[in-house]
This record gives sequence, C-alpha cells and structure tokens, in this order.
Amino acid sequence: MKLIAGILLLVVSAYAVTAQTDQAISIQTQKNELVYTVDKDQKVNQVYLGERLGNNAELFNAKGMQHEMYIPFGTSDLFESAIRTTHNDGNPSIELKFVSSEAKKLDEYITETIIRMKDPQYPFEVNMHFKAYAREDVIEQWTEISHQEKLPITLAIFASSMLHFDAKSYWLTQFHADWAKEMRMEESQLTSGIKVIDSKLGTRADVYQTPFFMLALNKPADENTGEVLAGTLAWTGNFKFSFELDNNNSLRVISGINPYASEYKLAPGKIFTTPTFVFTYSNSGKETTSQNLQKWARKYALLDGDKPRMTLLNNWETTFFDFNEQKLTGMIADTKKLGVDLFLLDDGWFANKYPRNNDKSSLGDWEPNKTKLPNGVGILVKEAEKQGVKFGIWIEPEMVNPKSELYEKHPDWIIKLPNRPENYSRNQLVLDLPNPKVQDFVFGVLDNLMTENPGIAYMKWDCNRPMTSSYSPYLKDNQSAIYIEYTQAWYKILDRVRAKYPHLPIMLCSGGGGRIDYRGLSYFTEFWASDNTDPLERVFIQWGYSYYMPAIATCNHITSWGKQSIKFRTDVAMMGKMGYDIQIAHLNDKELKFSQDAVVNYKRISDVVWYGNMFRLVSPYEGNRAVAMYVNYAKSKAILFSYNLNSRFREAFNTVKLRGLDESKKYKIEEINLFPDTKSKFPFQGKTFSGDYLMKVGLSVSGSEALTSSVFEITEM
Ligand code: GLA
Repeated sequence: MKLIAGILLLVVSAYAVTAQTDQAISIQTQKNELVYTVDKDQKVNQVYLGERLGNNAELFNAKGMQHEMYIPFGTSDLFESAIRTTHNDGNPSIELKFVSSEAKKLDEYITETIIRMKDPQYPFEVNMHFKAYAREDVIEQWTEISHQEKLPITLAIFASSMLHFDAKSYWLTQFHADWAKEMRMEESQLTSGIKVIDSKLGTRADVYQTPFFMLALNKPADENTGEVLAGTLAWTGNFKFSFELDNNNSLRVISGINPYASEYKLAPGKIFTTPTFVFTYSNSGKETTSQNLQKWARKYALLDGDKPRMTLLNNWETTFFDFNEQKLTGMIADTKKLGVDLFLLDDGWFANKYPRNNDKSSLGDWEPNKTKLPNGVGILVKEAEKQGVKFGIWIEPEMVNPKSELYEKHPDWIIKLPNRPENYSRNQLVLDLPNPKVQDFVFGVLDNLMTENPGIAYMKWDCNRPMTSSYSPYLKDNQSAIYIEYTQAWYKILDRVRAKYPHLPIMLCSGGGGRIDYRGLSYFTEFWASDNTDPLERVFIQWGYSYYMPAIATCNHITSWGKQSIKFRTDVAMMGKMGYDIQIAHLNDKELKFSQDAVVNYKRISDVVWYGNMFRLVSPYEGNRAVAMYVNYAKSKAILFSYNLNSRFREAFNTVKLRGLDESKKYKIEEINLFPDTKSKFPFQGKTFSGDYLMKVGLSVSGSEALTSSVFEITEM
C-alpha cells in the first residue's frame, strides 16, 4: 500500500515538475485570482493579481507583469528581499528554483496550494503555501523554510509573503495608534522608496502601529469603488510590512515577522513556519474587503465566531483598586438589575504580602487578597449564581512587579538585561515566557482559578507593557530568538488553555487594544478595543477596527468617559459587543429604565450586529457625523446607527442611501433606544418602505444636535 502511494506521489510530482512550467499556478477564490508561472530558468513569477480571468492561459501570450514570487537575497536583485541567510560555507546568497506544485481541496470551499522551491546548489528549501477561501475571497499565505546543511543556519530575513503590483499610483491606508488612540486611519500616496510599517515592541506589539493596511491602486479607494487590497499579518508579535516603489513604478509589498533583532537559528531538518499573511482584494472598494475579512474572521479566525456573547458589567472604572466583598456583592446585584449576563471583576483582587491596591505592586501573586476578599473569589461566584448571573475575572499573567513575592522567588524568570538597571513600564516587567517553567506558571494562573472556582464563566487576559531591555535568561546565548520565541511560547500556553477550556469566553486586552491580530484572536472570543470609551472617540476607533474585525469581537463598554448622554454612550456601544462599566446606583430612574430597555433591545438585535454584513454609509473622517448599518444575510432585518459628532449649529445633513437590503422587499422602520417619555422625531417612524426606495432615495437619519444619536430597527414586513 505504502509503495503504491509512494509511486503515485512520484508520478504526481513528476507530472507537476514538467507540466507546471507551461501552465499557470492559479490561487483562486470565487471572485479573484493570483497567478504564478514558471519561467525557463525555473523561477516562479507572479504574473497576475486581481479579478478572476476568463482564461488565464492568455497570460502566457502577453509579457505583462512578471516578478519573481519570493525574491531571495544575494544574487541579481537590487531591492528588498523576502528571505536571506548565509550557508554553512559562507555563501550569503539564495536561489530558489521551482520543484513542484500541488493543490488540494481541504473542503468544498478551501483549497491549499503549495509551491515547492529549492536552491539548486544547497540543500535549502522554501515551500510557499496558500489557502484560498472561495466564499470569503480571502487568501492566507505563508512559507515553510528548511535545510539539510551540516550546521544550523541563521535566517536574517524570512517573510511570509511578497506581492507585486504594477499600477499608475498606490495609496496606502494605515492604522496608527497609541494608548487610548487606537486605529487612527490615515491614507497617503506612496512615493519612490520604501515605506515601512512595523513593530519592535515584542508584547503589546500593536500599540503604535497596527498590523493592518489597505493598498488602493491607481486612485484612493472609497467604500464602493476602486481597486483595493486589504492585508494583515496573523502574528501577535513584531511585524513588518514594507512597500517599496522602484524605478519602474512597480510596487513590492513584503509582509512578515519583523526581522529586527531577530536573526533566527534554524537547525538542519527543522522547519521554520512563518505566520500567515491574510489578504483580500476587491475592485469595488473597501466595503467588500471589510465584509470579506469580517466574514472570514468570524468563521476561521476568531474563537467561536458563530456563537453568542455575554453582555456584562465591569467594575474597573467605577472602583479601580478600591473595593471589598460587600461592594462587589452590590455590583453583582446591579448586574442582575441592569439585565446583563455577567459581572466582570477587574484588577485589584489579588496578592497579600504586597496587596494590589494600585499599579505599583503585586503582579505575579495571584491569590485572593484576604482583606478585600476574606472569603476568596468563590463567594463571589456563588453570589453571582444566587443572582442568576455569571462571574468573570481579570488576570495579567505574563507580568510581574518588582514588588511581589514572585519577583523575590524567581528573579531568573524575568526578561531583563544583566548589568543594566531594570526598565519599567507601568511599574512592571515581562516574564520570560520562552522558559517552560514560566509557561507552566502562566498557564497555572488561569488553570488554578478555574480549578478552584469552576463556576468562573469569563476571563479578561491583559498585557499592559511592551518589552524593553529584552534579554531572556532562559535563551542564554540565543538572544535574537527572544521576540519570536516569546510569541510562540504565548501560543503554546494558549493551546493548553484551549485544550482544557475550549469554549471559556476570554477577552483579549492589552492596556486597551495593543495586541489585536487574527492569530491571537483564534484563542479569544473578543477583544478590548481601547481604554478610551469616550463615545465620540469611540466612533472613530470602532470605525477603524471594522475594516478587519467583526462587531461580535469588539468589546464596547458604556462608561463615564466623555460627557455625553447615556443614550449616546449606549448607542455607540451597541455597534459591537456591548458592556457596562458605570455605577448603576448613580443612574437616575429614567437613565436606569433607558439602560434596562437598551439591554433588552440589544439582546433582540445583537444577532444582526454580530453576524450580519456591515455597511459604512457615512464616514466620521469625512464630516461631522457617522452612519453605519448591519444587515442579516437573509436581508430580513437591519440595524442602522446614526451618530452626530461635533456637528455645527443646525448643520444640515443630506439623506443617506441604505445598502444591503433586498429591493423587492418591504421594510418597516422603527427608531429604538428612545429615552423614556420621548418620541421619535423622524417622520418615517413606524412607516414601511420598499428596499428599492430605501436604497435609491434613502432616509434623513440625522438629527440636528451635536453628540446625539439614533438607532433604527429595520424589519421586513
Ligand atoms: C488595562 C486595561 C483596563 C483595566 C486595567 C487594569 O489598562 O485596558 O481595562 O483592566 O488594565 O489595571
């Protein structure tokens, strides 16, 4: 049997070698394709990326675009390389020649293509992988690098992807950030030379630059027109995208782990697998790319992306570190009163020798503080059960404060330089995750809590500082592996968490949204988008995430940041996974009633927001308002959110054409989330219109006052 399989394999790959040289290797989705051919020198060239062709064999007749797929360093190329190493004999170059390619269907909709290449002179191989998701028009690309030289080799560059473009001009949209300023969108035209977007922060890697970009060809793309590619690296560590515009106006986009300070030693026979570069392309603007990615993320990236989420009340902004059992018991009762599903206890519940009463101490000492919680966490879980709500808890297990018992016991478990002063951020240091003992400890923080309190139904996993003075005592003389091994170790811990607790909802937090990427999210059900919950700011932050992240993953809390009405704050939070972080006792009767009703409304409409298609109708970047809507796939229900931002006195806003409805259906429009004793001011309230009318004529959905909002439930009749 084995022998037959072996012969078969030989036949197939032999066929591949000869046949592929005059045949296109096409990575296809329903709408798009990426085409490679092999030239007479056995080099693999990218010849096309765009809308699917009727007949890609025609690519052989015209000598159009022709760029080597994955250009190695050291021979004839004069620009940025995708891969670089030095061979055992000191030769600093690589050549990659086509060996074979194969495509296999992983299921009805997913095809994996592998293009195998090797150096003709050295036992050095690169396998380029593509996974094409037909329905979502998304492609994942990554490489596997290996060799059979005698001694280890050091990889200096190891990209996941190199894509080529030949257009008249190129427009790059990036999302830069800082604490409380996440996902600031900015578009600029690329000029000759190299533009780099990268991170060197190790942990909390995306706090300044995020691993998301859009590239528009020939002109800036808008929501519904223009050629655009949206890309991101699924890697929770240092990343790098470089966009190099050369002398021929060709653009080369290289995506991968940031090779910065990360020369990677690869032993013979071992495979280095890069993270995946995830991308989608559209010739009809950014609405399509973001719908593709949101859909794909729900199905293939995010944990349990098709399952409902819990609404919650968090105590962070109302108590900070100052609470006790009695206060928390009151908040658990408030959780019930408000009608949300879960109470989330934040930072400050742990440590005894150095109690966690501020952010200057205690990280690492994860036992309940006896003064605040004399009966432990268990009593709170029980109290929640009694009230008929769930209980969740905050941890930051990768970190340690110098003022902690963990620091005293295990100084060797900490990332810090020998012979240099410790460098703090939020008074804390990062644990040496590559060390397996540290991995056990970090896993244990979550596992012990769960074992002691099986009733815990939710966790918030935080990470509040980047890595500096990066030196791993465990890695000894292999320090350049620290950034990569840290991230890999984090995945190993999370693999263990998910093996034991496959569906425990966990929020990924990083001092706000400093750690958001698709690979990280495969272990989490949701993420904390930003510590900034001022709803005016939040409209922009949520807008930014929406180009990549589905609403179901984006945690939005109603807090006391900003001075807007509870209605405005609630309406903004509803455009995602809604939660609260306010003092319920401080709400007046009407505000409380409004909030209780809003929770009921949210539960009714959330499946449309969570699982529907999102349409950005009016961008906050283009004026003083923002309008977006979600439509379920059956086109039977839609929710439209309209926010006035800093609009001027009686600023006039034009009507907005709705999108995504069925033109032949009739829909009833109802404004919901109205404040008690107020009536809708919109003349179309309660009326019915055809999808045709709503999409061709539209509705006047904006009020006139600054910082006000309206939510409309649109239901097929
Ligand atoms: C980070 C998080 C906050 C909160 C604090 C607790 O800043 O983003 O939501 O959990 O930590 O210290």
